[in-house]
Amino acid sequence: MLLNHKDLLSIEHLSKDDLYTILKITKHFKDTSIKSFKKNDLLYGKTVANLFCEPSTRTKTSFEIAAKKLSADVVNIDVNTSSILKGESLIDTGKTLEAMNINYIVVRHFFSGAPDILAKNLNISIINAGDGSHEHPTQGLLDLYTIYEKKKSFKGLKILLIGDILHSRVAKSNIWALKKMDANVSVVGPPTLIPKNIVDLNVKVYYDLFEAIKDVDVVNVLRIQFERQKENLLPSIEEYIEFYQLTKKKLNTAKSDVLIMHPGPVNRNIEISSDVVDSPSALINEQVTNGIAVRMAVLSLLKQKY
Ligand code: CP
Repeated sequence: MLLNHKDLLSIEHLSKDDLYTILKITKHFKDTSIKSFKKNDLLYGKTVANLFCEPSTRTKTSFEIAAKKLSADVVNIDVNTSSILKGESLIDTGKTLEAMNINYIVVRHFFSGAPDILAKNLNISIINAGDGSHEHPTQGLLDLYTIYEKKKSFKGLKILLIGDILHSRVAKSNIWALKKMDANVSVVGPPTLIPKNIVDLNVKVYYDLFEAIKDVDVVNVLRIQFERQKENLLPSIEEYIEFYQLTKKKLNTAKSDVLIMHPGPVNRNIEISSDVVDSPSALINEQVTNGIAVRMAVLSLLKQKY
């Protein structure tokens, strides 16, 4: 079973069937590889290059673990000591890796659309590990899997994304994935951090967290992406904390079994209080674990040209 795609660039361009295939294969790898600490030889002889032009702990490490569990070789390109610093273009860097018989490039880039540029210019598989504020498809997939594992169905499910929706590639990938599965998605945050066209995606918008959280099944809390803000979009961090930090007090108005997610990295006591991060309802570490199985699924399902 393979997806009819050479690359994984976004969730927007995946079908509902593609998503169910990825969920099914993720479960297979979670059961056969993650839980039992086993490797298989599905990608034996293949090479995966991690090309991360922005910092990462979870995505980069879990792609490396996923590739190694499939018996692929992995090269981690240190961008800070690479020829990118001598002015080599992204396409020429990609062509150089292709000439070394690399089979997959996992790319994280500050420029929205950078993975698409590589995919259009190379024959090898390109996987988007987060591009600007566009998409972070494997994060969206691991969030989707984590919800599916707990709730078994997306029918009638209500999911709330909290915080900096404007700059968050995780929010975009979650919205595309959850809407394709017919879940109900809402967002809440300060008006300056909510994109104006979000309603076009059939997403409900709130500005009051107490109101937004009332009857949802899952909340996904997002970090404020200060690194992408070109102007001051918040009056002060103290006011953000007052109105939008997820705290036990604000959770008192939610369902008693509400699940709490966060893609990480967490800024404790900014977007989420430390006691909520460590509470039994928080799935943050399970999301990280599921990230390995999801990335194994993606690596094994892409249709390679060679
Ligand atoms: N969630 C996520 O992308 O984390 P990293 O930046 O650590 O990869």
